[in-house]
Amino acid sequence: MRIDIVSVFPEYFRTLDLSLLGKAQEHGLLQVTAHDLRDWTHDIHHSVDDTPVGGGAGMVMKPEVWAECLDELLGMDEVPDTVEDGQSSPAVLILPNPSAPLFTQRDATELSHEEHLIFGCGRYEGYDARLPEYYRGRQVDVREYSIGDYVLNGGEVAVCVMLEAITRLLPGFMGNPDSIVEESYTGAQSLLEHRQYTKPAVWRGHEAPPVLLSGDHAKVDRFRRDDALARTSEIRPDLIEALDCADLDKADRKT
Ligand code: ADE
Repeated sequence: MRIDIVSVFPEYFRTLDLSLLGKAQEHGLLQVTAHDLRDWTHDIHHSVDDTPVGGGAGMVMKPEVWAECLDELLGMDEVPDTVEDGQSSPAVLILPNPSAPLFTQRDATELSHEEHLIFGCGRYEGYDARLPEYYRGRQVDVREYSIGDYVLNGGEVAVCVMLEAITRLLPGFMGNPDSIVEESYTGAQSLLEHRQYTKPAVWRGHEAPPVLLSGDHAKVDRFRRDDALARTSEIRPDLIEALDCADLDKADRKT
């Protein structure tokens, strides 16, 4: 998978060379490049923003600078606004935005099957609204996502979050692929994961659930499933409401 990230703070993405993401790059599973948006400016101050049309606080990122950069990364020529040129790009353009739909595990799974992702990090009051509109008009698959109901200083942290959620799903990324299958939000039924315990069996007077030490795999599975259902209904009742009843077994219904 090829990943291009555009930001006015490309240094943010040095951390992507660490840990499993770093290893995946070393092994050629991923090719990540962080670009400095200011490289596509032409003025002496390398300006990327301007005052909002209609007034108001803050600054808005200029569409011309973004478009020069994105045209190049998408491998598209600049064309007059009104001309349909039939050119398209196989890359998906992802724009983090606090006012967009929430990014979910389903989106991460879908995007993990793509060959080329381009992330554009907004700063200040964000990017000009015509930018996503323009690229959609040119048949680019543009996705805008929020990572949560809070406002960050820019899209950089949101990109790190989405990137990690997507790339860990790539075949060969995780040492033990089973750990993905059992996780929260994965699979047909999106439940929070059951709680986990390690040794010792009793720690500071607190016991790990004895059934987990019983060696009876069916009982362990049942206990974990019940724990997942109980935690989900307490913490995220919305996920329980979204469950398909046909996927629940008889024992689930009692929980
Ligand atoms: N930029 C600022 N806040 C954000 C959020 N919550 N999600 C995505 N991008 C953002």
